[in-house]
Amino acid sequence: MTDRSESDTVAFEVRNGIAWVKFNRPEKRNSMSPKLNRRMMEVLDALEYRDDVGVLVLTGEGTSWTAGMDLKEYFRETEAQGLGGTRKAQRESYGWWRRLRWYQKPTIAMVNGWCFGGGYGPLFGCDLAFAADEATFGLSEINWGILPGGGASKVATELMPFRKAMYHALMGENIDGRTAAEWGLVNESHPAAALEARVTEVATILLAKNPIALKATKDAIRRVREMTYDNAEDYLIRAQEAANSFDNEGRKEGIRQFIDDKSYKPGLGAYDRSKQTV
Ligand code: COA
Repeated sequence: MTDRSESDTVAFEVRNGIAWVKFNRPEKRNSMSPKLNRRMMEVLDALEYRDDVGVLVLTGEGTSWTAGMDLKEYFRETEAQGLGGTRKAQRESYGWWRRLRWYQKPTIAMVNGWCFGGGYGPLFGCDLAFAADEATFGLSEINWGILPGGGASKVATELMPFRKAMYHALMGENIDGRTAAEWGLVNESHPAAALEARVTEVATILLAKNPIALKATKDAIRRVREMTYDNAEDYLIRAQEAANSFDNEGRKEGIRQFIDDKSYKPGLGAYDRSKQTV
């Protein structure tokens, strides 16, 4: 198949509170074309505030997570439309990666196979990342004569120590899932056959947490990295107060179950949200 419709470039289903979203161009190794980028934004839009979605997992159909930008449709064909075409394609891809970075629900990259170049954008966009041992990661840009753009250089230096990021970008050598975990690109690596079970386990733990606190926490962890200590302290006070105005009762219930009921210990797990009455 070469002419997949735009709506078919992304697949998704919701099961038990988890939205499983897939890059769905396996015949093109899930490379990101303008069609796919537009469709992904629509899918993220449609899922973000659904009550039956608590966590979003981004994975890929077939042998690839994503082989990065589509060299033909994203680069060559948009360049042929002039600067306007290039900028439009950039807005469409960077737009959904940014959306993912600040998504309302926690997001998990489940990297099942190839992950190249532009794929580092959505990889970083996801809050957590789990790879198959058999997955392959690479900043292949240097191999075809460009720099790692579209945020990929930034992602490399955000996630990896300087020497590793520089080596990875200059050499164009690939690493497997285990090495990606060692270098900080992903949280963990597991044999492909065990990957979905581990991601489901992590997502299920997240589903039990207070959703307002999850959003406030994921934003806080991203924001404070760029702040001085004093600015971070101030931001966190204000972010907590803002979160309280959305959810005054959740944290009170959390304190109540620990201090009064003695039914759980926050150091060892989450409070029981089903007992919250307001
Ligand atoms: N852009 C456009 N097309 C791509 C693509 C990409 N990034 N990655 C794969 N494809 C296409 C191939 O052109 C091929 O199309 P065809 O069947 O019409 O000839 C099809 O997907 C299958 O790719 P193929 O190379 O035969 O698959 P493979 O399993 O042997 O190899 C890769 C997989 C990922 C190693 C290889 O496709 C590759 O190197 N892709 C480019 C990766 C890259 O540098 N991405 C960075 C972009 S920023």
